[in-house]
Order: sequence, then structure tokens, then C-alpha cells
Amino acid sequence: MRLEVEVLDTEEEVGRRAAQLVADELAAGRLGAFGVATGSSPAQVYASLAAGRLPGWDGVEVFALDEYVGLPPGHPQSYAAVIDREVRAPLGLDPGRVHVPDGAAEDLTGACDAYERALEERGGVDVQLLGIGATGHIGFNEPGSPFDSRTRVVDLTERTVADNARFFASADDVPRRAVTQGIGTIARARRHVLIALGAAKAAVVRAALEGEVSEECPASALRTFEDVLVLLDPGAASQLTRRPASRRSPAGAR
Ligand code: F6R
Repeated sequence: MRLEVEVLDTEEEVGRRAAQLVADELAAGRLGAFGVATGSSPAQVYASLAAGRLPGWDGVEVFALDEYVGLPPGHPQSYAAVIDREVRAPLGLDPGRVHVPDGAAEDLTGACDAYERALEERGGVDVQLLGIGATGHIGFNEPGSPFDSRTRVVDLTERTVADNARFFASADDVPRRAVTQGIGTIARARRHVLIALGAAKAAVVRAALEGEVSEECPASALRTFEDVLVLLDPGAASQLTRRPASRRSPAGAR
């Protein structure tokens, strides 16, 4: 089991570091399936990967962590639309290789089971990008989510709804439910990269890395995973009491 924490000077450097790890896996022919997160944290990773114009994306399957329930198909803030804009189009991926849980299905349980099966058939993802919510969620696994949970429909906490209101006209427009890969589903990825940016994440980053490993902080489950890299900017790292390894830009400049 390996969990490394690195603090980089800027959001851009965090993005480049994560993109480098993904690019190395791709170049080594080990990126059959790429697990992607939405939200602000991974934006620089995708920008950096797109700027790299790497060969070899053709055969890669992409799996999203989660999707809102109840948004009409094509809604610009549905995660299917976000991933299409931020990942698929910039990397030039075939839409048929991009998988997002179906939050608009009539039979949501069936859609969750189908998503879990698709992941299983693929043998799980090779590299999973993760953000962390203020509640400690990974994917949309809010506090109390069992560590062996699978893809399922969940209720979002009021805190998560409030945090995600920035993507919608108002908090009233944010869906209250989502389909998310479970923690047990996420755990099956071969490698995980968690990204947290900004001082607003400092308390939850500390809880996840230094607090109890408990369902009350779903991201603490990372400490039970096989191979985890946590990438932080100085704000997100500011409440850690144990000093993690730091990296700087190649020039070493601050
Ligand atoms: C999104 C997801 C969430 C976000 C988390 C942090 O697919 O799975 O867990 O990663 O809410 O969001 P940001 O990065 O916007 O702070």
C-alpha cells in the first residue's frame, strides 16, 4: 500500500503533475481505462493533457465517477455534458468510449447495475482522478457511505448542493440526488490521484489524511487503497500537521 502526498506551488503545477502521471501510464500502454472526475479540481489536468497532444488516446475508455439525477439529457451542467466539453472533445476521444452513469434513466437501479457491470467487464479503471468535497465525499459518496458500496443512487447533502450551486443559476436548480460509483467501486482502480485546491479544502484534507479512517469522512477510505497520490496546493495543505513531501516546478521558482 502506498499513499504519497505532494504539495505544489500552484494549481497549474498540480494539474501538470497529475497530467504527467496519466501521460506516463498512457505512454507505457497501461491506460486502458481512465477514471475522470468533474468539478473545478481536475480542470488543469485536462487542459494540460490536451495541450500535450499525446498519441495513444484512441484505445482508451473513459469512465465518469458520477452524474446528477433528474437533469434532462444534454443539460450543460450534466456531467455527461461537462465531460464531453472538458475531456472528450479536447482529447479527441470517440464518444462511444466515454461512459457516464445514466442519471436520466427511468430504471435508475438498472442503470446503476449496468454501469457497475461495464466497469467490471473492463476490469476497473487504471488511473482514477478524484476531487474531494467539503463533506469529505469522493464521487458523490457523502458521509455514512459504506466503504464497500457500489454504484447507486444517493442523496446529496445540503452542503454539497450549496457548493455546487456555482454551476447553476441558483441552489434551487441543483439536483438533490445523483448516481455515483460507490467507494468499493472506486477502490478497485489500480491507481488513484486525489486533487485538492485552496484553503477552503484544508480542513477536509486534514480530516481525510490525518483523522480517523471512517465512513464519516469518505475520503479517508483512500488510506485503505493500494496506490494513491494526493496532490495539493499550499492552501489545501495548510492544516496538515505532518509535513508532506513537497515538489517545486523544475525551475524551483516560487
Ligand atoms: C465530481 C466529483 C466530486 C468532486 C468534488 C470536488 O465528479 O466526483 O467528488 O470532485 O465535489 O469538487 P470541486 O473540484 O469542484 O471542488
